[in-house]
Amino acid sequence: MRTHFCGLVHETLIGQTVTVCGWVNKARVQSHQAFVDVRDHEGIVQVLVESDQPELFAAAGALGAEDAVRVTGTVRARYAPNDKIRTGRVEIVPTAIEVLNKAEALPFHAHENPGEEVRLKYRYLDLRRPEMQHAMRTRIRLVQALRRWLDARGFQDVETPILTKATPEGARDFLVPARMHPGEFYALPQSPQLFKQILMMAGFDRYYQIARCFRDEALRADRQLEFTQLDMEFAWVSEREVQDATEDMIREVFRETIGVELDAEFPRMTYAEAMRRYGSDKPDLRIALEFVDIADLVKSCEFKVFTDWANHADGRVIALRAPGAAAFSRKQIDECGAHAAKYGAKGLAWMKIEDASKGRDGINSPIAKFLDDATLAAIVQATGAQTGDAIFFGAADYRTASDFMGALRLKLGKDLDLVEDGWRPLWVVDFPMFEWDEEAQRYVALHHPFTAPAVDDIGDLRANAKTAVSRGYDMVLNGNEIGGGSIRIHNSAMQSAVFDLLGIGKEEAELKFGFLLDALKYGAPPHGGIAFGIDRIAALMAGTDSIRDVIAFPKTTTAQCLMTGAPSPIPDAQLAEVHVQVRPTEA
Ligand code: AMO
Ligand code: AMP
Repeated sequence: MRTHFCGLVHETLIGQTVTVCGWVNKARVQSHQAFVDVRDHEGIVQVLVESDQPELFAAAGALGAEDAVRVTGTVRARYAPNDKIRTGRVEIVPTAIEVLNKAEALPFHAHENPGEEVRLKYRYLDLRRPEMQHAMRTRIRLVQALRRWLDARGFQDVETPILTKATPEGARDFLVPARMHPGEFYALPQSPQLFKQILMMAGFDRYYQIARCFRDEALRADRQLEFTQLDMEFAWVSEREVQDATEDMIREVFRETIGVELDAEFPRMTYAEAMRRYGSDKPDLRIALEFVDIADLVKSCEFKVFTDWANHADGRVIALRAPGAAAFSRKQIDECGAHAAKYGAKGLAWMKIEDASKGRDGINSPIAKFLDDATLAAIVQATGAQTGDAIFFGAADYRTASDFMGALRLKLGKDLDLVEDGWRPLWVVDFPMFEWDEEAQRYVALHHPFTAPAVDDIGDLRANAKTAVSRGYDMVLNGNEIGGGSIRIHNSAMQSAVFDLLGIGKEEAELKFGFLLDALKYGAPPHGGIAFGIDRIAALMAGTDSIRDVIAFPKTTTAQCLMTGAPSPIPDAQLAEVHVQVRPTEA
């Protein structure tokens, strides 16, 4: 149908006849000339029709946005070159303009960015937009680069089941009724975790899969119900080997996909240090702000909230310097408080340093009256705050204070324009093995229940479960967790002990994971691996805020596909076939 792509018609073709196909991006008709911009995935080319060709001139005048057209003509140099576009030095003088499919009035135009609802409903029009083409094609190149790296190093691409048994990754399962087994269900995989471990026991040594994962959890900018992992597993490895190999892979795909050179060695930070300095297990190192712990300074001050938490075994009092924030209005201060409250803050004390040379008199703060001169001076000194800065304070239990001050740090970084350019990868290591779930009154696995503890001894693990460290690791980039993995338990007795600590009884363990416990008994090799969030990496590479922009057909935050209308009710007869009856739910 065509000889060239619109976006690739260039000066070397001047004088030649070409045929291009594409969509009418814009048609402007003047008294003696009509300019028609035709667009395909490579770009836009200008078609120029003179009024001395009345038939073509009339055809051009009748064109509308997004009509599908085929244009044949001669390439010539443009009278007024436009160096902003690749084809800006040429134009096509047509001998034929064919309308292949007329477009009806559009819900929106390719050069606009309408609301997300409209975009998702007419996703095919949205995806035609150059920005979306760019984002999606970045993802495609990322996956190609990943495969090249993996294939060159002997990783085996193995598919694992989609209809399977639940693999716990901490989310709710999607269930599929089993028609042939009334009352029974398959679960969609939250990840291929157990299959990839079993592939190591089965002798595949190095595995990868571009794997779709399903998790019924709240959707966010960086979370979808179904998403794609680059899932990897290695037999006979240490964590350092997994990290070094995958770090090399990530460096290479950044280089190949977007021409970015990441650090030659990614820094490592323990979970404890990340929480202490940044209040996050995925710190954004582009923001230089760091917490200062001031519990020691306020143990015996007059401000009860501070003294309570400063003297509490699990308490924390954090000060965070916000450079230049003394200029914040009341409203801006309140916005900070509201933001912290979303992450669990009961209050957010603050202090504006209006003139550092004046001591107490230069400080504007609702809590200054509770602090003596020496304490005030010590706080200012500890944070390094200068005239014009503000200091924010968070007091709570360790986790809550870290969380809300960590969220505030990110907000201040953005609001004060303190996010540096560039790429700041790091490994976060030495995660706690377990987290105490207050509600359920039991331990839950911080990573997943198959992650090995740092100690080899079962008695040791039982005795020190609360403080036990795991052999898990996350790769973090610019404040995003882009990958997570661990060395696995490869010993049946240790796996049973961990299930037990997680409150999974013998019977339940046998029922849910009997196959794993069995497989571990027949010479399972030490093994470990990692999974990277392809959607998240692609979004970072494409420079977009949401993974929805790098997923062709994503769900809305209300878990719907606006184009197809999924999910949708199912007729009773079809439900009966799979032995399912719908329970009425309260509105
Ligand atoms: P984890 O649960 O950390 O580990 O997932 C690995 C990576 O997948 C991405 N990710 C998501 N991306 C989009 N939407 C989601 N809902 C979502 N959830 C996770 C993140 C994350 O780092 N089986 C283990 C891996 C292993 O131990 O090897 C696992 O799934 O980028
Ligand atoms: P109050 O005396 O309750 O009005 O609190 C005085 C200041 O302390 C206000 O700015 C509150 O937002 C702040 N505040 C209250 N609770 C906390 C807390 N847990 N952490 C930090 N600041 C707090």
